[in-house]
Amino acid sequence: MKAFVLDRYGKKRALRLADMPNPMLRDDEVLVDVHAAGVNLLDSKIRDGEFKLILPYHLPLILGHDVAGVVVKVGPRVRQFKLGDEVYARPDDFRIGTFAEFVPVKEASLALKPKRLTMEEAASIPLVALTAWQALVEKANLKKGQKVFIQAGSGGVGTFAIQLAKHLGATVATTTSTINAALVKSLGADVVIDYKTQDFEDVLHDYDLVLNSQDAKTLAKSQRVLKGGGKLISISGPPDPDFAKESGAPWFVRLIIRLLSAGVREKANRRDLKYSFLFMRANGHQLLEITRLIEAGAIHPVIDRVFPFESTNEALAYVEAGRAKGKVVVKLK
Ligand SMILES: NC(=O)c1ccc[n+]([C@@H]2O[C@H](COP(=O)([O-])OP(=O)(O)OC[C@H]3O[C@@H](n4cnc5c(N)ncnc54)[C@H](OP(=O)(O)O)[C@@H]3O)[C@@H](O)[C@H]2O)c1
Repeated sequence: MKAFVLDRYGKKRALRLADMPNPMLRDDEVLVDVHAAGVNLLDSKIRDGEFKLILPYHLPLILGHDVAGVVVKVGPRVRQFKLGDEVYARPDDFRIGTFAEFVPVKEASLALKPKRLTMEEAASIPLVALTAWQALVEKANLKKGQKVFIQAGSGGVGTFAIQLAKHLGATVATTTSTINAALVKSLGADVVIDYKTQDFEDVLHDYDLVLNSQDAKTLAKSQRVLKGGGKLISISGPPDPDFAKESGAPWFVRLIIRLLSAGVREKANRRDLKYSFLFMRANGHQLLEITRLIEAGAIHPVIDRVFPFESTNEALAYVEAGRAKGKVVVKLK
Protein backbone atom coordinates (compact mmCIF):
# COMPACT_ATOMS: atom_id res chain seq x y z
CA MET A 1 0.00 0.00 0.00
CA LYS A 2 1.04 3.63 -0.46
CA ALA A 3 1.95 5.45 2.74
CA PHE A 4 3.80 8.51 4.03
CA VAL A 5 6.70 7.27 6.10
CA LEU A 6 9.00 8.93 8.63
CA ASP A 7 12.49 7.41 8.19
CA ARG A 8 14.39 9.62 10.65
CA TYR A 9 13.38 12.24 13.18
CA GLY A 10 14.16 15.76 12.05
CA LYS A 11 12.65 19.22 12.14
CA LYS A 12 10.50 19.84 9.04
CA ARG A 13 11.91 16.66 7.51
CA ALA A 14 9.71 15.56 4.58
CA LEU A 15 7.84 12.26 4.92
CA ARG A 16 8.62 9.75 2.15
CA LEU A 17 5.83 8.42 -0.05
CA ALA A 18 6.59 4.70 -0.09
CA ASP A 19 5.17 1.31 -0.97
CA MET A 20 4.69 -0.46 2.36
CA PRO A 21 3.38 -3.93 3.21
CA ASN A 22 -0.29 -4.01 4.16
CA PRO A 23 -0.59 -3.81 7.97
CA MET A 24 -1.08 -6.97 10.06
CA LEU A 25 -4.50 -7.11 11.69
CA ARG A 26 -4.83 -8.03 15.38
CA ASP A 27 -7.80 -10.03 16.62
CA ASP A 28 -9.54 -7.01 18.17
CA GLU A 29 -9.01 -4.70 15.20
CA VAL A 30 -10.72 -3.86 11.91
CA LEU A 31 -8.85 -2.85 8.78
CA VAL A 32 -10.01 0.52 7.47
CA ASP A 33 -9.72 1.48 3.81
CA VAL A 34 -8.71 5.10 4.35
CA HIS A 35 -10.82 7.65 2.46
CA ALA A 36 -9.57 10.73 4.31
CA ALA A 37 -7.09 11.50 7.10
CA GLY A 38 -7.04 14.50 9.42
CA VAL A 39 -3.75 16.35 9.92
CA ASN A 40 -2.67 17.33 13.43
CA LEU A 41 0.21 19.23 15.00
CA LEU A 42 0.95 15.99 16.83
CA ASP A 43 2.11 14.51 13.50
CA SER A 44 4.62 17.34 13.02
CA LYS A 45 5.76 17.18 16.64
CA ILE A 46 6.41 13.43 16.44
CA ARG A 47 8.24 13.93 13.12
CA ASP A 48 10.39 16.66 14.72
CA GLY A 49 11.34 14.26 17.54
CA GLU A 50 9.56 16.25 20.28
CA PHE A 51 7.70 13.19 21.59
CA LYS A 52 10.59 10.69 21.60
CA LEU A 53 10.54 10.33 25.40
CA ILE A 54 6.77 10.01 25.79
CA LEU A 55 6.03 8.05 22.61
CA PRO A 56 9.19 6.06 21.76
CA TYR A 57 8.23 4.92 18.25
CA HIS A 58 10.38 2.58 16.18
CA LEU A 59 11.19 3.96 12.76
CA PRO A 60 10.28 3.79 9.93
CA LEU A 61 6.85 4.97 11.02
CA ILE A 62 3.68 5.83 9.10
CA LEU A 63 2.26 9.04 10.61
CA GLY A 64 -1.39 10.16 10.83
CA HIS A 65 -3.78 10.20 13.81
CA ASP A 66 -7.27 10.66 12.30
CA VAL A 67 -9.14 8.48 9.84
CA ALA A 68 -12.47 8.15 8.08
CA GLY A 69 -13.05 5.21 5.79
CA VAL A 70 -14.69 1.84 5.18
CA VAL A 71 -14.17 -1.46 7.05
CA VAL A 72 -12.61 -4.02 4.67
CA LYS A 73 -11.48 -6.72 7.13
CA VAL A 74 -12.65 -7.71 10.61
CA GLY A 75 -10.57 -9.44 13.31
CA PRO A 76 -12.09 -12.61 14.89
CA ARG A 77 -12.78 -10.89 18.25
CA VAL A 78 -14.56 -7.86 16.76
CA ARG A 79 -18.29 -7.79 17.59
CA GLN A 80 -19.71 -4.40 16.70
CA PHE A 81 -18.44 -3.68 13.19
CA LYS A 82 -18.82 -5.47 9.87
CA LEU A 83 -17.48 -5.24 6.34
CA GLY A 84 -18.65 -2.12 4.53
CA ASP A 85 -19.30 -0.02 7.67
CA GLU A 86 -18.35 3.63 7.27
CA VAL A 87 -16.29 4.48 10.35
CA TYR A 88 -14.00 7.09 11.85
CA ALA A 89 -11.39 7.04 14.62
CA ARG A 90 -8.32 8.36 16.31
CA PRO A 91 -6.25 5.13 16.34
CA ASP A 92 -4.38 4.25 19.55
CA ASP A 93 -0.85 5.44 20.19
CA PHE A 94 1.65 2.94 18.76
CA ARG A 95 -1.05 1.91 16.20
CA ILE A 96 -1.18 5.23 14.34
CA GLY A 97 -0.62 5.44 10.59
CA THR A 98 -3.58 7.00 8.79
CA PHE A 99 -1.43 8.65 6.08
CA ALA A 100 -1.78 5.38 4.20
CA GLU A 101 -4.24 3.43 2.06
CA PHE A 102 -5.14 1.12 4.96
CA VAL A 103 -4.92 1.36 8.73
CA PRO A 104 -5.88 -1.18 11.43
CA VAL A 105 -7.98 0.28 14.27
CA LYS A 106 -8.95 -1.36 17.56
CA GLU A 107 -12.70 -1.93 17.84
CA ALA A 108 -12.74 -0.07 21.18
CA SER A 109 -11.36 3.05 19.52
CA LEU A 110 -13.73 3.09 16.54
CA ALA A 111 -17.18 4.57 15.91
CA LEU A 112 -19.62 4.66 13.01
CA LYS A 113 -19.08 7.81 10.97
CA PRO A 114 -21.82 10.44 11.39
CA LYS A 115 -24.12 9.91 8.39
CA ARG A 116 -24.53 13.60 7.68
CA LEU A 117 -20.75 14.12 7.26
CA THR A 118 -18.60 13.52 4.20
CA MET A 119 -15.50 11.37 4.66
CA GLU A 120 -13.31 14.50 4.71
CA GLU A 121 -15.51 16.13 7.35
CA ALA A 122 -15.51 12.96 9.46
CA ALA A 123 -11.71 12.66 9.26
CA SER A 124 -11.40 16.17 10.68
CA ILE A 125 -13.18 15.25 13.91
CA PRO A 126 -11.75 12.48 16.13
CA LEU A 127 -8.51 13.81 17.66
CA VAL A 128 -9.72 17.36 18.33
CA ALA A 129 -13.20 16.27 19.38
CA LEU A 130 -11.86 13.70 21.86
CA THR A 131 -9.43 16.32 23.18
CA ALA A 132 -12.29 18.76 23.79
CA TRP A 133 -14.48 16.01 25.30
CA GLN A 134 -11.77 14.71 27.63
CA ALA A 135 -10.95 18.26 28.78
CA LEU A 136 -14.44 19.76 29.16
CA VAL A 137 -16.55 16.71 30.03
CA GLU A 138 -14.26 14.06 31.53
CA LYS A 139 -11.73 16.20 33.42
CA ALA A 140 -13.60 19.45 34.10
CA ASN A 141 -17.20 18.21 34.29
CA LEU A 142 -18.22 21.56 32.78
CA LYS A 143 -21.75 22.54 33.82
CA LYS A 144 -24.48 24.84 32.57
CA GLY A 145 -23.88 28.42 33.69
CA GLN A 146 -20.12 28.04 34.21
CA LYS A 147 -17.61 30.27 32.43
CA VAL A 148 -14.85 28.75 30.30
CA PHE A 149 -11.96 30.41 28.48
CA ILE A 150 -10.93 28.42 25.41
CA GLN A 151 -7.72 29.72 23.86
CA ALA A 152 -7.22 29.86 20.08
CA GLY A 153 -10.91 29.41 19.26
CA SER A 154 -10.26 29.40 15.50
CA GLY A 155 -7.93 26.37 15.60
CA GLY A 156 -8.73 22.68 15.29
CA VAL A 157 -9.31 22.10 19.01
CA GLY A 158 -10.85 25.53 19.56
CA THR A 159 -13.54 25.30 16.86
CA PHE A 160 -14.79 22.02 18.34
CA ALA A 161 -14.35 22.97 22.01
CA ILE A 162 -16.36 26.20 21.65
CA GLN A 163 -19.32 24.30 20.18
CA LEU A 164 -19.12 21.57 22.83
CA ALA A 165 -18.92 24.09 25.69
CA LYS A 166 -21.94 25.98 24.31
CA HIS A 167 -23.84 22.70 23.99
CA LEU A 168 -23.08 22.06 27.68
CA GLY A 169 -24.57 25.45 28.53
CA ALA A 170 -21.38 27.32 29.45
CA THR A 171 -20.44 30.92 28.73
CA VAL A 172 -17.45 30.84 26.39
CA ALA A 173 -14.62 33.33 25.99
CA THR A 174 -11.95 32.81 23.36
CA THR A 175 -8.90 34.40 21.76
CA THR A 176 -8.24 34.76 18.05
CA SER A 177 -7.09 37.46 15.62
CA THR A 178 -9.51 39.98 14.04
CA ILE A 179 -9.78 38.04 10.82
CA ASN A 180 -11.28 35.03 12.64
CA ALA A 181 -13.59 36.90 15.03
CA ALA A 182 -16.70 36.27 12.91
CA LEU A 183 -15.89 32.53 12.70
CA VAL A 184 -15.63 32.02 16.46
CA LYS A 185 -18.78 34.11 17.05
CA SER A 186 -20.66 31.95 14.56
CA LEU A 187 -19.60 28.89 16.59
CA GLY A 188 -21.15 30.44 19.71
CA ALA A 189 -18.32 32.28 21.50
CA ASP A 190 -19.79 34.90 23.85
CA VAL A 191 -16.61 36.90 24.49
CA VAL A 192 -14.07 37.27 21.67
CA ILE A 193 -10.65 38.72 22.46
CA ASP A 194 -8.26 39.77 19.69
CA TYR A 195 -4.98 38.49 21.13
CA LYS A 196 -3.01 40.87 18.93
CA THR A 197 -4.54 44.04 20.37
CA GLN A 198 -6.03 43.01 23.72
CA ASP A 199 -4.78 41.25 26.83
CA PHE A 200 -7.23 38.55 27.95
CA GLU A 201 -6.20 39.18 31.54
CA ASP A 202 -7.78 42.66 31.37
CA VAL A 203 -11.10 41.29 30.13
CA LEU A 204 -11.70 37.94 31.83
CA HIS A 205 -12.29 37.50 35.58
CA ASP A 206 -13.65 34.78 37.84
CA TYR A 207 -13.64 32.01 35.24
CA ASP A 208 -14.37 28.41 36.26
CA LEU A 209 -12.16 26.79 33.64
CA VAL A 210 -9.36 27.59 31.21
CA LEU A 211 -8.42 25.30 28.34
CA ASN A 212 -4.80 26.27 27.67
CA SER A 213 -3.25 25.43 24.31
CA GLN A 214 -0.56 28.10 24.05
CA ASP A 215 2.86 28.89 25.53
CA ALA A 216 4.15 29.03 29.13
CA LYS A 217 3.54 32.79 29.41
CA THR A 218 -0.11 32.35 28.43
CA LEU A 219 -0.40 29.49 30.92
CA ALA A 220 0.91 31.70 33.73
CA LYS A 221 -1.50 34.50 32.83
CA SER A 222 -4.38 32.05 32.62
CA GLN A 223 -4.14 31.36 36.35
CA ARG A 224 -5.09 34.98 37.01
CA VAL A 225 -8.43 34.85 35.17
CA LEU A 226 -9.67 31.89 37.25
CA LYS A 227 -11.70 32.14 40.42
CA GLY A 228 -10.77 30.24 43.59
CA GLY A 229 -11.39 26.51 43.05
CA GLY A 230 -11.13 27.00 39.27
CA LYS A 231 -9.52 24.51 36.92
CA LEU A 232 -6.64 25.06 34.53
CA ILE A 233 -6.33 22.30 31.95
CA SER A 234 -3.42 22.48 29.55
CA ILE A 235 -3.03 20.51 26.34
CA SER A 236 0.27 22.14 25.44
CA GLY A 237 2.17 21.16 28.59
CA PRO A 238 3.79 20.96 30.98
CA PRO A 239 2.80 17.35 31.83
CA ASP A 240 1.73 16.53 35.40
CA PRO A 241 2.31 13.57 37.79
CA ASP A 242 -0.93 11.81 36.76
CA PHE A 243 0.23 11.83 33.18
CA ALA A 244 3.68 10.61 34.29
CA LYS A 245 2.03 7.66 36.08
CA GLU A 246 -0.25 6.79 33.14
CA SER A 247 2.57 7.09 30.60
CA GLY A 248 4.21 3.86 31.78
CA ALA A 249 7.59 5.48 31.15
CA PRO A 250 10.71 4.41 33.11
CA TRP A 251 11.07 5.96 36.59
CA PHE A 252 13.64 8.62 35.60
CA VAL A 253 11.40 9.82 32.72
CA ARG A 254 8.44 9.94 35.11
CA LEU A 255 10.53 12.01 37.50
CA ILE A 256 11.49 14.47 34.74
CA ILE A 257 7.83 14.69 33.66
CA ARG A 258 6.74 15.48 37.26
CA LEU A 259 9.41 18.13 37.68
CA LEU A 260 8.40 19.94 34.48
CA SER A 261 5.11 21.04 36.02
CA ALA A 262 6.29 21.52 39.62
CA GLY A 263 6.32 25.34 39.29
CA VAL A 264 2.91 25.75 37.69
CA ARG A 265 1.33 23.29 40.14
CA GLU A 266 2.78 25.08 43.13
CA LYS A 267 1.50 28.46 41.91
CA ALA A 268 -1.91 26.95 41.22
CA ASN A 269 -2.07 25.42 44.72
CA ARG A 270 -1.26 28.77 46.27
CA ARG A 271 -4.25 30.31 44.47
CA ASP A 272 -6.53 27.38 45.29
CA LEU A 273 -6.64 26.30 41.63
CA LYS A 274 -6.34 22.83 40.14
CA TYR A 275 -3.78 22.38 37.39
CA SER A 276 -3.87 19.35 35.13
CA PHE A 277 -2.31 18.31 31.85
CA LEU A 278 -4.27 16.37 29.24
CA PHE A 279 -2.81 14.11 26.60
CA MET A 280 -5.84 12.87 24.72
CA ARG A 281 -6.45 9.16 24.17
CA ALA A 282 -8.33 7.10 21.62
CA ASN A 283 -11.86 6.24 22.83
CA GLY A 284 -14.66 4.74 20.76
CA HIS A 285 -17.35 5.26 23.43
CA GLN A 286 -16.66 8.96 23.64
CA LEU A 287 -16.53 9.15 19.85
CA LEU A 288 -20.02 7.62 19.77
CA GLU A 289 -21.25 10.41 22.09
CA ILE A 290 -19.63 12.89 19.73
CA THR A 291 -21.33 11.22 16.74
CA ARG A 292 -24.69 11.75 18.49
CA LEU A 293 -24.00 15.47 18.96
CA ILE A 294 -23.03 15.82 15.30
CA GLU A 295 -26.08 13.86 14.10
CA ALA A 296 -28.29 16.10 16.27
CA GLY A 297 -26.79 19.18 14.57
CA ALA A 298 -25.31 20.49 17.84
CA ILE A 299 -21.76 20.47 16.47
CA HIS A 300 -20.48 21.05 12.93
CA PRO A 301 -17.05 20.35 11.49
CA VAL A 302 -14.94 23.35 10.50
CA ILE A 303 -12.58 22.58 7.64
CA ASP A 304 -10.02 25.01 6.34
CA ARG A 305 -8.39 23.03 3.53
CA VAL A 306 -8.46 19.59 1.92
CA PHE A 307 -5.21 18.47 0.26
CA PRO A 308 -4.79 15.51 -2.11
CA PHE A 309 -2.98 12.55 -0.51
CA GLU A 310 0.16 13.18 -2.60
CA SER A 311 0.43 16.61 -0.91
CA THR A 312 0.55 15.28 2.67
CA ASN A 313 3.86 17.08 3.35
CA GLU A 314 2.32 20.35 2.15
CA ALA A 315 -0.71 19.72 4.39
CA LEU A 316 1.61 19.26 7.38
CA ALA A 317 3.50 22.45 6.52
CA TYR A 318 0.21 24.35 6.27
CA VAL A 319 -0.84 23.19 9.75
CA GLU A 320 2.61 24.00 11.19
CA ALA A 321 2.32 27.58 9.93
CA GLY A 322 -0.25 27.97 12.76
CA ARG A 323 -2.92 29.89 10.83
CA ALA A 324 -5.41 27.10 10.13
CA LYS A 325 -9.08 28.01 10.61
CA GLY A 326 -10.43 24.72 11.88
CA LYS A 327 -9.03 21.53 10.41
CA VAL A 328 -6.85 20.37 7.55
CA VAL A 329 -7.50 17.03 5.88
CA VAL A 330 -5.87 14.86 3.21
CA LYS A 331 -8.15 13.02 0.79
CA LEU A 332 -7.36 9.60 -0.61
CA LYS A 333 -10.59 8.62 -2.34
N1 LIG B 1 -2.44 17.31 24.58
C1 LIG B 1 -3.30 16.93 23.63
O1 LIG B 1 -3.94 15.88 23.74
C2 LIG B 1 -3.50 17.80 22.43
C3 LIG B 1 -4.51 17.51 21.51
C4 LIG B 1 -4.71 18.38 20.44
C5 LIG B 1 -3.90 19.49 20.29
N2 LIG B 1 -2.91 19.72 21.18
C6 LIG B 1 -2.04 20.91 21.07
O2 LIG B 1 -2.86 22.06 21.25
C7 LIG B 1 -2.38 23.13 20.46
C8 LIG B 1 -3.50 23.63 19.55
O3 LIG B 1 -3.83 22.62 18.62
P1 LIG B 1 -4.76 22.91 17.37
O4 LIG B 1 -4.81 21.68 16.54
O5 LIG B 1 -6.04 23.50 17.81
O6 LIG B 1 -3.91 24.04 16.63
P2 LIG B 1 -4.18 24.77 15.26
O7 LIG B 1 -5.46 24.32 14.66
O8 LIG B 1 -2.95 24.66 14.41
O9 LIG B 1 -4.30 26.31 15.71
C9 LIG B 1 -4.29 27.30 14.74
C10 LIG B 1 -5.11 28.48 15.25
O10 LIG B 1 -4.45 29.04 16.40
C11 LIG B 1 -4.71 30.44 16.39
N3 LIG B 1 -3.65 31.09 17.16
C12 LIG B 1 -2.33 31.09 16.88
N4 LIG B 1 -1.66 31.78 17.84
C13 LIG B 1 -2.59 32.19 18.75
C14 LIG B 1 -2.52 32.93 19.97
N5 LIG B 1 -1.37 33.37 20.46
N6 LIG B 1 -3.68 33.15 20.63
C15 LIG B 1 -4.86 32.68 20.15
N7 LIG B 1 -4.98 32.02 19.00
C16 LIG B 1 -3.86 31.76 18.31
C17 LIG B 1 -4.70 30.82 14.94
O11 LIG B 1 -5.56 31.93 14.77
P3 LIG B 1 -5.00 33.27 14.08
O12 LIG B 1 -4.63 32.86 12.68
O13 LIG B 1 -6.14 34.19 14.19
O14 LIG B 1 -3.79 33.67 14.86
C18 LIG B 1 -5.25 29.58 14.22
O15 LIG B 1 -6.62 29.68 13.88
C19 LIG B 1 -1.15 22.58 19.73
O16 LIG B 1 0.00 22.86 20.47
C20 LIG B 1 -1.40 21.08 19.72
O17 LIG B 1 -0.22 20.33 19.58
C21 LIG B 1 -2.69 18.90 22.25
